[in-house]
Amino acid sequence: MKLVFGNFKMNGRISKIYEYIDSINELPDEELQKICIFFPYTFFGYIDGARFKYGAQDCYYEDYGAHTGDISAAMLKECGCEYVIVGHSERRIGHEESNEIIDKKLRSAICNELKPVLCVGEKTSQRKQRFEVIREQLNILTPKNDEVDFSDLIIAYEPVWAIGSGRVPSITEVDEVAEFIAEHVIKLTGKKVPVLYGGSIKTTNAGKFLNIEKIDGILVGNSCLDAHNFKEIIKMAI
Ligand code: PGA
Repeated sequence: MKLVFGNFKMNGRISKIYEYIDSINELPDEELQKICIFFPYTFFGYIDGARFKYGAQDCYYEDYGAHTGDISAAMLKECGCEYVIVGHSERRIGHEESNEIIDKKLRSAICNELKPVLCVGEKTSQRKQRFEVIREQLNILTPKNDEVDFSDLIIAYEPVWAIGSGRVPSITEVDEVAEFIAEHVIKLTGKKVPVLYGGSIKTTNAGKFLNIEKIDGILVGNSCLDAHNFKEIIKMAI
C-alpha cells in the first residue's frame, strides 16, 4: 500500500474544515488507511471527527517552557497528532532551520511518540550535488546517547525547486534518489524506512510518481487543499 500524505501549509479556514473532513471521511477504510493530513495547528480543536490520521507541519524541540509562539511535540501528541513533519524546506529556508535544529526536533518528536516525516532535498543551485546535500541532511540520523528508535521514521524527498513550481524531476531521478536515501538510512540506523516523493504533485502526474517502485508514497501540498481533487489522487495509490 502506497502512502498519500497531504500538507495544508498555511491554508484553509476553520469554517470550511467540517466540509473537508466529511468529504475525505466518505472514502472507504482501505483508502483512509493510506493517508495522513498535516493541518495548521489552529485546526486541531475541530477535527476529532476525522476517520484518517493527521499531523502537524512542525514542532519545537523542548517539551514546555519560555518559547513564545512555539508548539511542542508533547502538545501535538495531546491534540491527537500521529505524525509531524520536520525539516520542510519552507522551515529550513524561511526560518533558517539548520540540520542541528531539525535533529533536535526529530528526536523530540520520537520521544513524544510522534512519527516524524523528515523532508530532504536540494535547491536549484545544488542539483548537481544533490546526493551530497541529501547525505548531509540525513546524517542527523546517527545514533546518539538518547537511544532514539527510528522504526517509525518516514523520509520525504522534496527537491526545493519542484515545490509549488509546477516543475518535477524525471522518474529516473526520483528513483535514483529514493534508492540512495533508503540505502543511506539503512547504513545509519539499520532500519528500512518508507521514502515519499513531494513537489508539484497533481492529479495529472500523481499516478506516475506513485508507480515508481522505490517510492512508498507521495507528499502533496497545494493539490490536497480541495477534498475532491485530493480524493482523486488518493484513489490512484494502491
Ligand atoms: P506542492 O508542495 O505540492 O504544493 O508543490 C509540496 C510540499 O511542499 O510538501
